[in-house]
Amino acid sequence: MKKQPIGVFDSGLGGLTILNALRRELPKEDLIYFGDTANVPYGSKSKEAVTRFSLAIARFLESQHVKLIIVACNTASAQALTELRKQISVPVMGVIEPGAEKAVSTTRNGRIAVLGTEGTIRSNAYPKAILKRAPKMRVTQQACALFVPLVEENWGKKPAAKLIAQTYLTPIQQSGADTVILGCTHYPILKPVISQILGKRVTLVDSADTLAEAARRFLLQSGQACSTGKGRVQVYASDDPTRFKRLAGYLLADKIGAVRLKKLDL
Ligand code: DGL
Repeated sequence: MKKQPIGVFDSGLGGLTILNALRRELPKEDLIYFGDTANVPYGSKSKEAVTRFSLAIARFLESQHVKLIIVACNTASAQALTELRKQISVPVMGVIEPGAEKAVSTTRNGRIAVLGTEGTIRSNAYPKAILKRAPKMRVTQQACALFVPLVEENWGKKPAAKLIAQTYLTPIQQSGADTVILGCTHYPILKPVISQILGKRVTLVDSADTLAEAARRFLLQSGQACSTGKGRVQVYASDDPTRFKRLAGYLLADKIGAVRLKKLDL
């Protein structure tokens, strides 16, 4: 049991920010990362489509004998988690609950803003998770459809990024939120431009570290943590692994080895 890997998936590259955190927190664990580059973006797709893709990936990860599946995608966590937990036999963790938990413990004025894809914002998953913990919080949401392409094209430092971010962040500034959830796995890459606009008094929260800590707790409590050796990382993409590997260089702290092609059975 202890030698089983952890499965991690995202619609594409963004989940690599979660993979970074998992490698820091769980250096002895083997990880299998799946980027669904054939079906990205999930953010503008229907709940039915996102659920279908997520189930196909989770079934593939199950076939690799993973002991835990981490949904390293906010859109899939917001829309498909319930169905995944119903249909998949291994435990499944998403990014919404850890992000909400961290935001609630961070805010000082009780005003939290959520940035995410259209699908994540439409699902209201973050406000639900926040209000379940702290019913008096005031939550503002903003869909930021252009942030993902900015990251994927490595345009985070260009003037266009600042102009776009300013447009999305104006309502957030007006809301008075002191805590902003980066509710999409790509957005931590845009932290410099977002914090430049929002200023030092606003704390940016992402789920990566909190999720990695929760995964470690889960493995320890269930007696499944790996205690020896250095973990290996295997990476799969459902389309064009060469492009994936090239773009992954912008997002990953360490180099990844070969990216293998695995088409999904949808
Ligand atoms: N990784 C997705 C998320 O965290 C964003 C990219 C997409 O739209 O597929 O929501």
